[in-house]
Amino acid sequence: MIARPIIIDCDTGQDDAIMLLLACAAPDELDILGVTAVAGNVPLPLTERNARLMCALAGRTDIPVFAGCSRPMVRDLVTAEEVHGRTGIDGYDVDQPKVPLQQKHGVDFIVETLMAAADDSVTLVPTGPLTNIAMALVREPRIVPKINEIVLMGGAAREGGNTTPSAEFNIYVDPHAAHVVFTCGRPIVAMGLDVTHKTLTTKARLAAIGAIGTPVGNAAHSMLEFYDRHDIEKYGTDGGPLHDPCTIAYLLEPGLFKTKHVYVEVEIHSERTMGETMVDFWGVTKRPPNAHWAQEIDADGFYHMLTERLARL
Ligand code: BDR
Ligand code: CA
Repeated sequence: MIARPIIIDCDTGQDDAIMLLLACAAPDELDILGVTAVAGNVPLPLTERNARLMCALAGRTDIPVFAGCSRPMVRDLVTAEEVHGRTGIDGYDVDQPKVPLQQKHGVDFIVETLMAAADDSVTLVPTGPLTNIAMALVREPRIVPKINEIVLMGGAAREGGNTTPSAEFNIYVDPHAAHVVFTCGRPIVAMGLDVTHKTLTTKARLAAIGAIGTPVGNAAHSMLEFYDRHDIEKYGTDGGPLHDPCTIAYLLEPGLFKTKHVYVEVEIHSERTMGETMVDFWGVTKRPPNAHWAQEIDADGFYHMLTERLARL
């Protein structure tokens, strides 16, 4: 099997961190060309640090990590320390990453890597605000045909928003970037709250991760324990949603998900509904579909795979 080349772009909070660990645990399937960090859950100096911490924890000191944009394209940065804690990965206490930060800007890395790649060859996996990806698309439109697929975490339709009543965090933080990405013309798979809110880290699933008993298992357990406390209170569920790892899980086992090919448009005009993802489930706009919108997940299958993969590290 030839490993699929991917670039991961994240705003490393706890769920991004688990996503990185899962990706690192799949070297036969995924060739991680690099990780770019973006401002989102916490400011950029922490998201890039956290990405480096996770690569080091996974023993993947070979993966280059780059810092990208420190603010959204148009609007002011909104962060989410109330969810993720001061560092973004509270629950994991190590300070000094063993992986150095690359000097190159993350957007330059994306542009240069794609320009050197064959058409239709590199998959982008963004799990934060889409600033870096949109900036790369704006800066060098010739990268567009190089992209095989964009598998992102972001958006909400039937589930409603988690940051405003209509907007999900990643899209809300940089709606203009999301607009650029959703109109880029390449295939998109969107893991929004409609599916990630069905991906709950219940007590039993958390205990299974804790039972791995390795440094990675222990770190994943304590980060998720911290992360879940906020969402358990907010949603009144037995465990919080685990958003970002759905992207990598889709690449590894697409059969875990049910998606629908639909037209999605990002609201960038109304302050009240800024960042809403308008999903045309029934084709009423007559616009051509631009995204595969995730609707269902086999959550037990997902947690089984996640736990088994984390145990490999
Ligand atoms: C998304 O927002 C962030 O807080 C999470 O890391 C995830 O990417 C969920 O709305
Ligand atoms: Ca994220």
